[in-house]
Amino acid sequence: MKILAIVGSTRSEEKSGVNTLVRRVAEGTGMECEIVSLRGKKIHGCIACMGCVHDNVCVVDDDMKGLREKIVEADAYIIGAPNFYTGMNAISHAFMERWYQFRHRTADTLWGKLAVAVGVGGGTGEPVVNEIEKFMLYNFIETVEKVHGQGAASCFTCGYGESCGVGVPRMMFGEDVKITEEIIPGVHKQPELLERATQAGRNLAKRLTEGHDRKAVAMKVQEVMMAKFKEST
Ligand SMILES: Cc1cc2nc3c(=O)[nH]c(=O)nc-3n(C[C@H](O)[C@H](O)[C@H](O)COP(=O)(O)O)c2cc1C
Repeated sequence: MKILAIVGSTRSEEKSGVNTLVRRVAEGTGMECEIVSLRGKKIHGCIACMGCVHDNVCVVDDDMKGLREKIVEADAYIIGAPNFYTGMNAISHAFMERWYQFRHRTADTLWGKLAVAVGVGGGTGEPVVNEIEKFMLYNFIETVEKVHGQGAASCFTCGYGESCGVGVPRMMFGEDVKITEEIIPGVHKQPELLERATQAGRNLAKRLTEGHDRKAVAMKVQEVMMAKFKEST
């Protein structure tokens, strides 16, 4: 069994709440996980060229090429991204858009696989996990767990946090805020959230090892997709 874990944050490993939570989930599985960071990668959004419709292989030449095989070979995914403007950040969105290459003709390359979604925001990561779940649905992948939490908005460390009129520190703590290490939010300071991430990993491993039937999962997810499609038309 192979699990591919994606860290969609472009911040350094030490600063990234997404990195911390994705690694927690990965550890929780107790299984072989390859962790790939999108930081520094060049990944273009889908350009709708339809170059992938014949063989489900994207023709755009960038760092997504090196990730394709890893996506195909994995039995499950842990996908984490930060909240930028109430949605996932651009590189994570571009990365997910490019999964369009798997959706043609039989569409069975990824179907029935499992995923855990991870989202972190300066306020909340919830919109991100819902977005990841939506992307997974399009590939008939079941999101078995969604883990989201509050991390550190960059405003706490940008240098202007105490005086900036539109920054998060003043929004959270008022005009007289004094920024100290204690008040900077961080996922590593939230034991319940860390435990939740570990538990999500355990649950993913359980699903994978206790008779995971990809076809049955794909059929179930397809039903959800069809219901959503009917709702929206
Ligand atoms: C351009 C930008 C937009 C952001 N927009 C939001 C937002 O709409 N809501 C939110 O909760 N956090 C927002 N944030 C804060 C990040 O989500 C937060 O810093 C988070 O910890 C980033 O994840 P990371 O620590 O893994 O990098 C934004 C940050 C940036 C740089």
